[in-house]
Amino acid sequence: MCGIVAYVGQRQASDIIIKGLKRLEYRGYDSAGIALLNGGLNVYKKKGKVSELENFIKGQNLSSTIGMGHTRWATHGEPNDENAHPHYSATKKLAIIHNGIIENYNSLKQDLLSKGHRFESETDTEVFIHFIEDIKNNEKCSLDEAVRLALTKVVGAYAIVVMSLENPNLLIAARKGSPLVVGVGKGEFFMASDATPIIEYTNEVVYLNDQEIAVVNNGALTVKNTANLPLTPYVQTVDLELEAIEKGGYEHFMLKEIFEQVRSIKDCMRGRLDSNSGRLTLGGLREYVNKLVNADRILIVACGTSWHAGLVAEYFFEEFCRIPVEVEYASEFRYRNPVIREGDVVIAISQSGETADTLAAIELAKSKGAIIFGVCNVVGSSIPRLTHAGAYTHAGPEIGVASTKAFTAQLTVLNMIALIVAQKKGTITEQKFHEMLVEMETIPDKVEKALKLNAQIQVIADEFKNARNFIYLGRGYNFPVALEGALKLKEISYIHAEGYPAAEMKHGPIALIDEEMPVAFIATKDASYEKVVSNIQEVKARKGRVIAIVTEGDTHIPKMAEFVIEVPDTVDALMPMVSVIPLQLLSYHIAVMRGCNVDQPRNLAKSVTVE
Ligand code: G6P
Repeated sequence: MCGIVAYVGQRQASDIIIKGLKRLEYRGYDSAGIALLNGGLNVYKKKGKVSELENFIKGQNLSSTIGMGHTRWATHGEPNDENAHPHYSATKKLAIIHNGIIENYNSLKQDLLSKGHRFESETDTEVFIHFIEDIKNNEKCSLDEAVRLALTKVVGAYAIVVMSLENPNLLIAARKGSPLVVGVGKGEFFMASDATPIIEYTNEVVYLNDQEIAVVNNGALTVKNTANLPLTPYVQTVDLELEAIEKGGYEHFMLKEIFEQVRSIKDCMRGRLDSNSGRLTLGGLREYVNKLVNADRILIVACGTSWHAGLVAEYFFEEFCRIPVEVEYASEFRYRNPVIREGDVVIAISQSGETADTLAAIELAKSKGAIIFGVCNVVGSSIPRLTHAGAYTHAGPEIGVASTKAFTAQLTVLNMIALIVAQKKGTITEQKFHEMLVEMETIPDKVEKALKLNAQIQVIADEFKNARNFIYLGRGYNFPVALEGALKLKEISYIHAEGYPAAEMKHGPIALIDEEMPVAFIATKDASYEKVVSNIQEVKARKGRVIAIVTEGDTHIPKMAEFVIEVPDTVDALMPMVSVIPLQLLSYHIAVMRGCNVDQPRNLAKSVTVE
């Protein structure tokens, strides 16, 4: 959460920074600010979105070839102008932008207060820059040395950039636990939370590792670690097209990403799965694949939508590989002293690859000797760098805060892993294995067909746009889809929604059902079809309003349900990739009709880098 971007070179920094902040707005949008060296070290900041800041600075002389900006997701202090970043040091000769949390800021603050420091904001970040300046004055050292010394004393997570009034060619950046990428152009440098603000100018980047400090001074980049060891920057080429991070004619990123799923699922399988030759390979599993094959138990750790993908994976790992699976919220797992035995394997699932709780869960499991596999979308992010092996989902950048294409790509990868393991383990017949490959190749077309339901779903959305509550019910493979449908709706439309296993509904939620309650059933023809039909009857008997997602050609449920959405048939294990599509569209249209900000829902952030 929080996005940071900085520039030094020959161009006008403010243009690059504002544009970059807009690309990073998915990380937080409570307030935004920019610091420039335009006749002084000047900070401009405003509560609200980057567009508010843009209006605020319009018409001012912003001429500066160095600068930095921040878009905030509030942790310490409410979202207002004072708490917005950048923050000044005591003399106002230094400024900082920060993504993360300084956990020991209060003790540092008390110490600084006793030395006469006064603070303008309630943030940990302002304390941090005062602390850096205090060290610089006491030690009479260079600014980068003061930053390094400060970093050895702070506890917490950070990605920071520091600027100085006294050196118009200097930017100092550092990271621990929050992402930071340095873009290397011709005589110019960029720093950002991810590569999206950078790729328009250069695709040469350096991903900083934890506890590394990057100093750009007079056109040269040097990297060292907080122990003061000089390091050779590893310059990589990022493979990211500008079109991938633009809306491409869609009204919202979320809608674009929903419709991209035909392509993203194909991209995810490209070069990995081919039913003609019977080939299924995931290069990233490397020599560790046997650890999975011989695993006594698989532990899946994730948050949010990625956790729902983990729940689906539980079903197919158990079905195909006959390995017991436990799916854990990373935030619970990390604080529980979990039992991790030899023979346990951990799979961490994350779109961003930066979720703080998932990272901490991985570190904990690793410290107990577990082998960790990662299933991530963002190439070069922290989780893939921390895991022993894994596979990227290759869904392309996901910018809408509500996750859509990442979910179906995660299921694609997890399915592929399960099939590889099952084949090696001998828990799947060759015939079934081949049938599964053939079926997986049909999924993009089936998703495309499901997307054609868009107009029909708009009609249903109009009918229920004023609902105050929603219940989503499914069983078996469709139970996690019910959870995901409910999450999508509450995230972006602020309607209270509950996802439940359809049968468990009888143990509580059924009390909520009356003639006003919309109940979305994911009732495709699978192993639990008959049981779900009974559950629909139970809801009908209490006058609930049933919306049913059914398999094409179903003649039974349409007689019971008020609204029916027909999706193409597939095997049970792959149905979530198809049955989730109408639910994504339903929540999207309801949110648009309610006038909600679909891509930037209130209080949320795409990448939760604080615990
Ligand atoms: C945030 C996002 C969710 C996402 C979750 C996990 O809450 O708003 O959409 O599912 O984090 O993120 P990850 O990047 O680890 O998948």
